[in-house]
Amino acid sequence: MRLTPPQIKEIEGLIPGRVLREVPLRRFSSFKIGGPADLIAEPAGLYDLSRLLIYLHDEKIPRTILGAGTNILFHDAGFRGVLVKTSSLTRLDFQSDGLHTAKITVSAGVPLSRLVTRACESGWTGIEDLWGIPGSFGGAVVTNAGAGEVSTADVLQSIRLLSELGEPSNIDRKDFQAGYRSMQIPKGSVVVEGIVQLPHGDAEAIESRLSVARERRKGSQPWGLASAGCVFKNPSGEKSAGEIIDRLGFKGMAVGDAQVSEVHANFIINREKARAADVLELVERIRTRVREEEGIDLELEIRVLGEEPTDD
Ligand code: EPU
Repeated sequence: MRLTPPQIKEIEGLIPGRVLREVPLRRFSSFKIGGPADLIAEPAGLYDLSRLLIYLHDEKIPRTILGAGTNILFHDAGFRGVLVKTSSLTRLDFQSDGLHTAKITVSAGVPLSRLVTRACESGWTGIEDLWGIPGSFGGAVVTNAGAGEVSTADVLQSIRLLSELGEPSNIDRKDFQAGYRSMQIPKGSVVVEGIVQLPHGDAEAIESRLSVARERRKGSQPWGLASAGCVFKNPSGEKSAGEIIDRLGFKGMAVGDAQVSEVHANFIINREKARAADVLELVERIRTRVREEEGIDLELEIRVLGEEPTDD
């Protein structure tokens, strides 16, 4: 469905100065891949976001929430509808009861790395393992991002949502439905904030955990190259998708400019001009071999978004 000019005008009126038309999505994706988006809208705050959600709902305009674009593969034909960017939701408030515990209110658009750095610098412990995970806090919540021993849900006390009708609500920790790289969020709702609770820790111990996380990531994953992180979920706690794909000899295999990383086989990197179609072709080759050789159906961890190209 294409947006009509009056709809575009209406959206531009709702959040003036914060709407981009027909921009290539490769600029909004760590993969640096993707065709044009009809509209990218970045509300300045919760009030504007809520008004925008209501309008999009009433007009039945398709929309997807976009955080930092670090776990997404956009199709080459781009995205029809509105991508709602959360980058301007940037609250990061620390409240502590003296020296014991911090309650940190974090908005969806805050980079996860900022939360990790600020918490560790202030002596709060428990999220050192998340060091180096790219992406926004909102994205980390909805994918339950994790590394080492820690996943985002482990430290979350509550999540604040806006429904598609712009109504706020909270989900408390006891009601979370979190799984491995997943979090059940009511359909149509947008995560706008979360409260992270951390205990106080010893500064040296925090620094030492951080340096383990840094070394692990920099030593075992492609660093500074265009990618969307791990492509597949691990099939189980014992089995790593990277290890299986590596064993089957895929490292270095390329389709166009999409290449299985030489460093970690569960990463596909964009050497320069990879298209989504190249990445998806590699994904299919890997899946087919892993199914044939191991009897395992690998599930995508990255989200594939947008319109599939047609031949005409
Ligand atoms: N391995 C190989 N070859 C490879 C990659 C890995 O043999 O090409 C072996 C490693 O040597 C190790 C085992 O597989 O024995 C597990 O590898 P690793 O420690 O790299 O962990 P992983 O299970 O592949 C997970 C997360 C990563 C996270 C790391 C570090 C998933 C899908 N991946 O990777 O998260 O950074 O642990 O904690 O859960 C992501 O979510 O995007 C991501 C990259």
